[in-house]
Amino acid sequence: MAAANWTPSSWRSKPIEQVPSYPDAAALADTEKRLASFPPLVFAGEARKLTAALGEVAEGRAFLLQGGDCAESFAEHGADNIRDFFRAFLQMAVVLTFAGAQPVVKVGRIAGQFAKPRSAPFETVGETSLPSYRGDIINGTEFDEASRIPNPERQIMAYRQSAATLNLLRAFAQGGYANLENVQQWMLGFVSGSPEAERYGKLADRITETMQFMRAIGIDADNNRSLRETDFFTSHEALLLGYEEALTRVDSTSGDWYGTSGHMIWIGDRTRQENNAHVEYCRGIKNPVGLKCGPSLEPDALLRLVDKLNPENRAGRLTLITRFGHEKVEAHLPKLVRAIQREGRKVVWSCDPMHGNTITANGYKTRPFDRILSEIEGFFAVHRAEGSHAGGIHVEMTGKDVTECTGGTRPVLAENLSDRYHTHCDPRLNANQALELAFLVAELLKKDRETVAQPEKHAVNF
Ligand code: TRP
Ligand code: MN
Repeated sequence: MAAANWTPSSWRSKPIEQVPSYPDAAALADTEKRLASFPPLVFAGEARKLTAALGEVAEGRAFLLQGGDCAESFAEHGADNIRDFFRAFLQMAVVLTFAGAQPVVKVGRIAGQFAKPRSAPFETVGETSLPSYRGDIINGTEFDEASRIPNPERQIMAYRQSAATLNLLRAFAQGGYANLENVQQWMLGFVSGSPEAERYGKLADRITETMQFMRAIGIDADNNRSLRETDFFTSHEALLLGYEEALTRVDSTSGDWYGTSGHMIWIGDRTRQENNAHVEYCRGIKNPVGLKCGPSLEPDALLRLVDKLNPENRAGRLTLITRFGHEKVEAHLPKLVRAIQREGRKVVWSCDPMHGNTITANGYKTRPFDRILSEIEGFFAVHRAEGSHAGGIHVEMTGKDVTECTGGTRPVLAENLSDRYHTHCDPRLNANQALELAFLVAELLKKDRETVAQPEKHAVNF
């Protein structure tokens, strides 16, 4: 059943932010028609499975790990990139699963993360003003007119790249690569020798030993799917609504509408106005939806958005991804948590420690590792104090050895940012920084676990 007064195109009659101006409306309409005839990238049953898994997070029984590039690019679409991202991500997941002793729900910012909101519609260099770069699905990064004019054909390319990426990810997740027996092999060469590599090696040894014990008692990867495979889901910001609409399909088993461009989509902090197009589109699809919550979001406005996006209060449907900045999290998060709790709303709380912590150093956009960590610590502290579940993290990361964020145990220094600064958009954690962050978050999870376990221990003593 569709939401009241909703169709896949009802967003078109609402005010909208961040729309590219395509010079050729007929060509755009033709592209959208072609996309609408293409096969779905993901299936309703998978989106439902993710909703159920996120429902466990909302209830405090699981943890969400969401991460990937700020923006995927056409130029870097290679198997190596995808594999290196996936292994770094698996390492993080293993570390968090072990420490939290809870399932980790794995969601990549991948296979569809192509469209970017921009703070200004034009970029000016010297005397020349051209449309801003809005992501490879819309236009090109090169500063010339031909690249910057929005080209609908790019949507077809993004669709095809997403399909190929997803195909490889499915093979990795279910075809043996993610088998826990390979836990030692996910270590990346260039990370070796770092303190994180050593720590990871020790953890992998413990897992291997446990697996040997389990094999001895008759449980192994050959007879147990959960050791052999993992569920990996895709997500992206649903910014380019014409593309999303073209991939919106009715699920024949339930009659519900699903976005089939990715398992989960989110609404950005710049496009979350309650009466506008992006909220309108997302309210009608059944996928799990994320909502980025920045410092300007007041509790009342949040509650109205929650009403719109999750009127039935289903756990797992809505993930609130907070991104305040390390100095603001403790001032802004508690009032949102209290409003949600007061109204009995079921949400996943996830922390995006990246977007509120961007600074410029040495002429580069960067993010200091200690500020990223500090926002996560603040996030955990607030949830601990409010009695809510610190449910997940949302990070921009890569499996490569880039120099985009400063700091870490193998510190990237401001003067070295230029060495391997490869991002098309925002600075990402490199593989070593991502693993380091996973270990630090693991400690926070462990601490939460120990505090929660306290009352039970006393109960036994009585
Ligand atoms: N299936 C379990 C899970 O996804 C265990 C598992 C298999 C796993 N491979 C993994 C966990 C890789 C983390 C990383 O949680
Ligand atoms: Mn970003």
